[in-house]
Amino acid sequence: MSGCEGYSAIARVYDRLNAEIDYAAWADFVERCFDRFLPNRPALVLDLACGTGSMTLQLAARGYDMIGVDGSAEMLSEAYSRALDQPSILFLQQDMRAFELYGTVGAVTCCLDSLNYLLQYDELCQCFACIHNYLDPDGLLLFDMNTPYKFRHIYGDNAYVLEDELVWDEGKETEERAAIYCGWQNAYHADTGLCEFDLSLFEELSDGSYRRADEHQTERCYSMEEITSALKFARLELLGVWSDFSFSAPDERTERWYFAARAKK
Ligand SMILES: C[S@@+](CC[C@H](N)C(=O)[O-])C[C@H]1O[C@@H](n2cnc3c(N)ncnc32)[C@H](O)[C@@H]1O
Repeated sequence: MSGCEGYSAIARVYDRLNAEIDYAAWADFVERCFDRFLPNRPALVLDLACGTGSMTLQLAARGYDMIGVDGSAEMLSEAYSRALDQPSILFLQQDMRAFELYGTVGAVTCCLDSLNYLLQYDELCQCFACIHNYLDPDGLLLFDMNTPYKFRHIYGDNAYVLEDELVWDEGKETEERAAIYCGWQNAYHADTGLCEFDLSLFEELSDGSYRRADEHQTERCYSMEEITSALKFARLELLGVWSDFSFSAPDERTERWYFAARAKK
């Protein structure tokens, strides 16, 4: 299981389900990290596990040459259709545990807990080693991870429902888009650190009926010690860990850690 199989049916509606994520603010943070940790603005940036390309597109619009790598053909297809006016972006379907590029890049981003989809510690080490391989000397890696607090207390064994319904404006429908509902049930196994998500997606069809698709995803909870030792293994020097885009220090209730690391060569 590579972590991208659980993205087949969901790819079409992924952006609507994640509409609350502020990628413009995230890209501002990425650029502040570039200013802080790189001597020069990077010319070429890799967005690893780029999914539907939200960060790839943000950075391309700010003038960076972009490569987007993801393992899921369906997610890449969405990214590709969103990037029709940005033909210079290179999208590659590859596994982040063993990807290959044509040359090195000045920075790598890997957003929205994509690294939690690597279920073995060795796979995290392999992925970091690949990143190191394709980063310029002193090149920057920016990534985030869901924290143990989030796995234990937010995901846990809880069930959630997300819904996105038709948008109305003054009694007139402004967009022809069908309602979608996504329900998911979590099962967190504290002994293995694995958290399974069973998602059921209901998409409204033109006749008012609903089409159902089911996906199964698994994330792995990594401790701070595991993450820092995997970085060290790959000769990536940890520069900082924060809990938000304002560089706040994490605390015991932080749900997402934002990391910056530098490739030592
Ligand atoms: C939560 S999504 C995040 C996507 C994107 N970074 C974003 O911010 O929206 C996780 C992504 O990781 C990708 N992924 C999971 N395992 C992977 C692997 N082994 N190799 C490449 N991509 C993988 C999935 O296909 C999916 O697009």
